Amino acid sequence: MPDPEEFVVTPYEVKGRIDYARLRELFGTQELTPALLDRLRQRAGGDLHPLLARGIYYSHRDLGLLLDRFERGSPFFLYSGRGPSGPLHVSHLVPFELCRWMQQRLGVPMYIQITDDEKFWARAGLSREEATHWGLENLYDILALGFDPARTRVFFDSRSIAALYPLAIRVARKIPYSTVKAVFGFEPSMNIGLVFYTALQTVPCFWPSWAEDREVPCLIPCGIDQDPHFRITRDIAEGLGFPKPALVHSQMIPGLLGEAAMSTTGSVNDNALFLNDPPKVIERKVRNAFTGGRATVEEQRRLGAVPEVCSVWALWRTRFAESDAKLREVTAGCRSGALLCGECKGQLLERVHAFYQDHALAREKAKGWAESAIVTEAPKPL
Ligand code: TRP
Repeated sequence: MPDPEEFVVTPYEVKGRIDYARLRELFGTQELTPALLDRLRQRAGGDLHPLLARGIYYSHRDLGLLLDRFERGSPFFLYSGRGPSGPLHVSHLVPFELCRWMQQRLGVPMYIQITDDEKFWARAGLSREEATHWGLENLYDILALGFDPARTRVFFDSRSIAALYPLAIRVARKIPYSTVKAVFGFEPSMNIGLVFYTALQTVPCFWPSWAEDREVPCLIPCGIDQDPHFRITRDIAEGLGFPKPALVHSQMIPGLLGEAAMSTTGSVNDNALFLNDPPKVIERKVRNAFTGGRATVEEQRRLGAVPEVCSVWALWRTRFAESDAKLREVTAGCRSGALLCGECKGQLLERVHAFYQDHALAREKAKGWAESAIVTEAPKPL
């Protein structure tokens, strides 16, 4: 019998009920403390992005060191990415939301990696055409968050390989097969694409230092599931003469059906709100979403509900509560039994629909400059 308390978090699998404090210990990352958040708040002009203030980002590697250097006048760049296997859902925006905010507040460059190669290797049912198609579609959604065209560059793996490969060659030579096997648990039947892939996910961390011939520190906002790749990156960085990337890790956002993450492997389409879902589908998904509510209205009025297990509360927390006061109001109403699930879902839906409308407009604008952001040439031959 599998232990129900057991959970799995790797770049290729997330399942079970995740104990985030334990996961941080297992991965050996550091806690994102109030003191560090304060430093970031000061740098950012006095407030924090809700994803930071509400604890969705909860772990890091070397953020303190990065801030030390930044405070001494040494700029860094942001890096995050997306493996395009289908449409984006709202939780996929979590790393990019933080990046967009940091870019605006700190004026730093952003590099986005779209890994159509990775997803083609990882998903047996996905064609090359589909992976590349979704890569572009996903890129529009990401850029629509408000990235600055003058400071944002994209590595679209299948199209940017000439820009990445000179560095990938050097990175790959530093990574023994035994390391990727141990870190990712690859089975012998695994195709060799993914064995090499971690080199490609590493390259953007070093790319600006390579291009500019000086140390340019890197900060990676990402889901904690991506940390294994960057443990490898950090181990080999110094041997190649590059700074180790710093990371800030978010928790996984629970799915609408109450699963550990809003992933939609297979046919469980209703587990997530996709950015291309029409309003009626969104309505249905939210109305059917798993909540922390009680079996009857009477019970809920009497006992209150449980926000911590509720997928709708997770949506309020990660994106749709426009202020901390609103989040507190929803949370208190839920716990006390004053706010019933139907009413809560209705309030949330208003915000979801408004977000989708704004996003659609911003996405059309992003299409105008997405192509020009894709890097296709290496800065130098070696
Ligand atoms: N492997 C990531 C995914 O499956 C994509 C990715 C590439 C990425 N580079 C990254 C994620 C850097 C976070 C940070 O979606």
